[in-house]
Amino acid sequence: MRNSICRPAVFVSLMLLPVLSILLYQLDSFDPAEYPDKELTRREPLFVPNRNTHMLRGSERLGEGRLQAPEDVAFDPNTGLLYTGCEDGWVYRVSLNGSLVEKWVYTGGRPLGIAHGLHGELIVADAVKGLLNISKDGSIELLTEEAEDLKFKLTDGVDISHDGTLYFTDASYKYGLHEYMWDVLEGRPYGRLLSYNPSTKRTSVLVRDLYFANGVAVSPDQSFVIVCETVLRRCRRYYLEGHRKGSVDMFVDNLPGVPDNIRYDGEGLYWIALSTGISYPVDLLQRYPLIRKVVAIVERYVGHLKMEKNGGAIAVDLDGKPTALYQDRDISSMTSAIKIGVHLYSGSVSSPYILRLNVDRYPATPTV
Ligand SMILES: *[C@@H]1O[C@H](CO)[C@@H](O)[C@H](O)[C@H]1NC(C)=O
Ligand SMILES: *[C@@H]1O[C@H](CO)[C@@H](O)[C@H](O)[C@H]1NC(C)=O
Repeated sequence: MRNSICRPAVFVSLMLLPVLSILLYQLDSFDPAEYPDKELTRREPLFVPNRNTHMLRGSERLGEGRLQAPEDVAFDPNTGLLYTGCEDGWVYRVSLNGSLVEKWVYTGGRPLGIAHGLHGELIVADAVKGLLNISKDGSIELLTEEAEDLKFKLTDGVDISHDGTLYFTDASYKYGLHEYMWDVLEGRPYGRLLSYNPSTKRTSVLVRDLYFANGVAVSPDQSFVIVCETVLRRCRRYYLEGHRKGSVDMFVDNLPGVPDNIRYDGEGLYWIALSTGISYPVDLLQRYPLIRKVVAIVERYVGHLKMEKNGGAIAVDLDGKPTALYQDRDISSMTSAIKIGVHLYSGSVSSPYILRLNVDRYPATPTV
C-alpha cells in the first residue's frame, strides 16, 4: 500500500529534477567566461626539486582558538612580534612562540594584507575599508579606497618599497569579500595592481585586468614588484626601473596550486602561499565555463562545494625558479607563508591559528 502511493511521487520527482535543473541553468543570468586560451594550463606540472608533502607533520598551532582566519602574517623585528589580520576585524599581535596573543587594533573591516611601514606604522589592505595606515599608537587613517573612479571592492595584498611607495592590489572591483568565489567562477579580470605615494597622496593604477590580483612583493633590489593572480595560478612582474620600466612579464607560471600572498624572506627566496593545490575538479573548472556555471548554481542554491585541499607554500628564487614545495592534503585555504629563522609561519582563512613549521627539522627533500 505504502509503495503504491510513493512510487508515482518518486517517479515524478525524478522526472522533475533534471527539468528544474535545466530551467535553473537557463534562467540563471550568471555568465562565466572562457579563460584566455593561451593561458590555459594544460601543461606538464611545474618541476619543484624539493618537496615535503606532509607539511602538517611536526607543525605547531599558534594562538589556536583565538585567531579567527588569520590571513596575512607580518613580522616586525623592532617589537619581535608577528602581526596578523583576522575575520573579526582585529589586527592581533602574536609572539613568535605563540605565548602572547593580543588584540591590537580594530579596523572595523576585514584586514587582509599587512606590511610594516618605514616609520613604525602598519599598512593594512583591508578588504572592506581600503588601504589603511595604522600608526604606532594605534590610530587609523584611510589612505585610499579608489582609483580612476573605481572603488576598491576587495583590497587584498600590500608591500612597501625602500622609497616608501606602497604597492597593493584590489583583487576585484566587481565582487567583494564574501563574493570572491563568484569572481573566480566568472573568470573575468577585475583585479588591479596599484601604488600609493605617501608624499603626493596619489593612487596610481599600474596593471589592470588581473585575474584576482592577490599577493604583492617588491624585489629586494627594488627593480620590480611581483603580483600574484590567483585564478590563473601565476605571478607576474611589473618593472619599476630600467629599460623595461612600466612593462609586465611572467615571474612564475603554472604553479602547483592557486597563489595567495607572497613574501620575500631576506635570504634569497620568495614564499608563495598556495590556498589549494591543483586537482582534477579544479582543472575542470579552469577549462570549462559551463562547469563553473553549474558550480555557481550549486553555490547559490545548495551551498559551498569544498574543493580546497593540498594547500601549502612554494619557495621560488629571485628569478622565480621553484626550489621547494611544502603541502599537505589536509591543508585548505593557506593564505600566507613567511620564513623567520628556521620557522615557516603560515596564515589561513579556514583555520583558527597560525601554523608554525621548523623547516630545518622537517625539510623539503629532493624529489629525485
Ligand atoms: C616564549 O617566548 C617568550 C619570549 O618572547 C619567553 O619569555 C617564553 O618563555 C617562551 N615560552 C615558551 C613556552 O617557550
Ligand atoms: C602613517 O601615519 C603615521 C602617523 O601619522 C605617519 O608618520 C606615516 O608617515 C604614515 N605613513 C604613510 C605611508 O602614510
